[in-house]
Amino acid sequence: MDYKQKVAQAIVKAVDGQLTEEEVLVKIEVPKTMNLGDYAFPAFVLAKVLRKAPQMIATELVEKIDPTGFEKVEAVGPYVNFFLDKAMFSQDVLHEVLTEQATYGNQDLGHGGNVPIDMSSPNIAKPMSMGHLRSTVIGNSIANLLKKANYNPIKINYLGDWGTQFGKLIMAYKLWGSEEEVKADPINNLLKYYVRFHKEDVEHPELDDQAREWFKKLEDGDEEAIFLWTWFRNESLQFFMKIYDKLGVEFDSFNGEAFYNDKMDEIVELLEDRDLLQESQGASIVDLESYNLNPALIKKSDGATLYITRDLAAALYRHRTYDFAQSLYVVGNEQTNHFKQVKAVLKEMGYDWSDDIHHVPFGLITSGGKKLSTRSGRVILLEDVLNDAVDLAEKQIEEKNPTLPNKEQVAEEVGVGAVIFHDLKNERLNNFDFDLEEVVRFEGETGPYVQYAHARAMSILRKAGVTEIDPNAAYELTDPNAWEAISLLGNFPQVIKRAVREYEPSVVAKYAIQLAKAFNKYYAHSKILADDDQKAARLALVASVAIVLKESLRLLGVAAPNEM
Ligand code: ARG
Repeated sequence: MDYKQKVAQAIVKAVDGQLTEEEVLVKIEVPKTMNLGDYAFPAFVLAKVLRKAPQMIATELVEKIDPTGFEKVEAVGPYVNFFLDKAMFSQDVLHEVLTEQATYGNQDLGHGGNVPIDMSSPNIAKPMSMGHLRSTVIGNSIANLLKKANYNPIKINYLGDWGTQFGKLIMAYKLWGSEEEVKADPINNLLKYYVRFHKEDVEHPELDDQAREWFKKLEDGDEEAIFLWTWFRNESLQFFMKIYDKLGVEFDSFNGEAFYNDKMDEIVELLEDRDLLQESQGASIVDLESYNLNPALIKKSDGATLYITRDLAAALYRHRTYDFAQSLYVVGNEQTNHFKQVKAVLKEMGYDWSDDIHHVPFGLITSGGKKLSTRSGRVILLEDVLNDAVDLAEKQIEEKNPTLPNKEQVAEEVGVGAVIFHDLKNERLNNFDFDLEEVVRFEGETGPYVQYAHARAMSILRKAGVTEIDPNAAYELTDPNAWEAISLLGNFPQVIKRAVREYEPSVVAKYAIQLAKAFNKYYAHSKILADDDQKAARLALVASVAIVLKESLRLLGVAAPNEM
């Protein structure tokens, strides 16, 4: 039962249909404190229509509202506050959670529509950065959320495996590289060659010409160039796969930039046919002044295509292949202009589906307040971060629960989960600082804190000897200490809707923290295992909390160990 809807319906009835249910629904608020009720309706919404002071409207509304199903309905200033009938509500919510289990909160917003999600997309022959981590875990969580809302997400890793830098890499490898080195430590050694190239080409600019030639060879399908490129790509990909395995993230496609190599001519032709290409200093551009954007550079003077050309080809390919409901790009906010340009060019080409393309940007991760970047040497290697996090988790488990079976696996789930959770609890667009010790703590607003609350709930159920809970029994929990947790459980479907609408996993992460806190408070204030007539109801609540915490963590891509 959707209680917000129930509140809306009661209001619509009381105002004799002067507002529609939809109009009321968007105005209903959840008060900050519990003494103001569970839902509030701001009466000033009606002030214009009724030409009365909001306070007066609120008072009159309260008299007209049918209070069935509510403990009370009262006017406080210009607000009408609704207090749900707790016994009935808790009965309803627990019944629903226990019946639906992990599917509780599922929605049908998507009607099965396809949503390709461009995510992770690291560059070959370079280490994966914290930015790529963000894209990976945000994208993965958005995919889980979309699936829960009955969309069909398609996770695409658009590998950065094409571009003039591969000419430089081949050149550098041929000058200074060796097969043994690349095999032993592909990413670091390929990066080393590449960095050396950039040092030496300052004094030897002829290197750049040679590199350009190698890229040309690559584009023309030269055997040696293709061989080296394929090899570098495979080695890099194998290395990335280890990280994805650790993070528990899988992809549906690895079609990277190179995949669109033979699909670029069509884009250029389509642009020509529509008379959109202009010449500018030998290069071909699309003017985007009417969008207030810089021109899109489609082809360089030497004929080479660019990042945006490949993105245009990819967008068109995705539209044809998936006939998408939406097409998402989870990419840092420093590329906002690029995606504006992509959308604008597609719009100019007459593709109205460009409106369904959404850049889902995110902020930077800093360390000690400073930006992390490859050039300044402040690289934090993702693999190191994950390994360190697991070590820290292991130490804490060793202290807290030394006899825990399968300690290693739990440490892995806690350490990796902590890094993922920390990333997702911040609103996407906020920049945030990364301090590993902070991230892996068992207290505070961390992943381990939520995991621990779940494990505690499971351990209570184990102690009670409960294996199955009857979803249909009467569970009228009237204990005021239980109310916060119960009302949060009831909010879960709304949380899902909001997170999906805003592409914002942090909504779920923040919710999980709140629910874990409410549960811990409940646990501290009540004797759950005492033998009285409310015991079954209390255990039903504990089981429901465990279900929803586990599902919240799953949506974030974080494991929920039963014991830790
Ligand atoms: N490889 C790019 C980078 O690391 C990100 C690609 C984002 N996706 C896209 N379709 N442009 O900056």
